Amino acid sequence: MSCLRALLGLGLLVGGARVAVRAGSVRGSCPSREWSLLIREIRTGSAMDNSPRYMSQEEAQAVDEELFNEYKFSVDQLMELAGLSCAVAITKAYPVSSFTSNFPTVLVVCGPGNNGGDGLVCARHLKLFGYLPAIHYPKRPNKTLFDNLTTQCQKMDIAFLSEFPQEPKLIDGAYNLVVDAIFGFSFKGAVREPFGNILSLLKRITIPIASVDIPSGWDVEKGNAEGIQPDMLISLTAPKQSAVHFTGRYHFLGGRFVPLALEKKYKLNLPPYPGTECVQKLS
Ligand SMILES: NC(=O)c1ccc[n+]([C@@H]2O[C@H](COP(=O)([O-])OP(=O)(O)OC[C@H]3O[C@@H](n4cnc5c(N)ncnc54)[C@H](OP(=O)(O)O)[C@@H]3O)[C@@H](O)[C@H]2O)c1
Ligand SMILES: *[C@@H]1O[C@H](CO)[C@@H](O)[C@H](O)[C@H]1NC(C)=O
Ligand SMILES: *[C@@H]1O[C@H](CO)[C@@H](O)[C@H](O)[C@H]1NC(C)=O
Repeated sequence: MSCLRALLGLGLLVGGARVAVRAGSVRGSCPSREWSLLIREIRTGSAMDNSPRYMSQEEAQAVDEELFNEYKFSVDQLMELAGLSCAVAITKAYPVSSFTSNFPTVLVVCGPGNNGGDGLVCARHLKLFGYLPAIHYPKRPNKTLFDNLTTQCQKMDIAFLSEFPQEPKLIDGAYNLVVDAIFGFSFKGAVREPFGNILSLLKRITIPIASVDIPSGWDVEKGNAEGIQPDMLISLTAPKQSAVHFTGRYHFLGGRFVPLALEKKYKLNLPPYPGTECVQKLS
């Protein structure tokens, strides 16, 4: 038995990020290569492969249910972390300094479910990060959570557009970027209005689209060759199977809230996030 596995046997190592901290005092007694391999093995469930596994729709929904029912997270907690991840990833891919305008404009399109809630949170953080977001939120659920998020945005002077611009040129002219927070992993079947109209306009714009979790209108597993083709995808929790069809420039992983036991159970094989970062660029 290696010296590291011996430490495990003694109960000194309990998993995940705590390994390095707890083991700090005994680190000197083991070869460092062995350390890094074991730590990686514990974190990812695999000693060799550092790329995440892509989830089916059913798995995404099962992980979701477990986070709430077994791990006792609340929706607004995870929504805050997910939306923050999106804003941080967008800031890394499209820094304010890369635009000619001092306050780049962002059109955030929010759908009727939790993906739309992520969009509201993302818009609020983008405003704090120096962008000028505007939100289109045509189908609002009658729930306090979404009312609260909407009020927060309104009180931060983020405009809500009652009408969606009906010409691609108008969108290209008025905005620097679109955030697509219309549908996430619960999307199914043919797109219903008003979102069919919105997605057909988004297919014809030239400014980049950043999609939250799933490019909207894409089948969660099979994608959609005829659909929008975003420049950026921020996969939350873990990528879904449709992400293999993503051809844009930036694929990020966000939503750094998955407990190690849950990651192991679903064999997510998440790559380690660097330091305190809430996002990780995927290759
Ligand atoms: N818990 C987690 O693991 C977790 C963590 C972070 C973020 N999130 C976010 O939550 C998202 C999932 O949220 P969600 O389960 O509320 O679902 P969702 O993917 O946001 O979509 C559900 C909504 O979309 C509508 N919809 C579905 N198919 C449609 C279609 N073909 N045409 C028009 N509307 C359609 C549904 O309307 P009906 O009600 O009329 O069917 C429902 O209102 C994730 O993708 C992610 O963005 C989840
Ligand atoms: C919204 O929900 C509340 C209770 O949660 C209900 O009393 C009210 O009628 C609902 N409004 C609409 C427009 O559905
Ligand atoms: C909405 O905000 C009110 C006031 O802060 C709070 O009492 C309530 O719990 C919030 N509701 C949700 C679902 O977040």
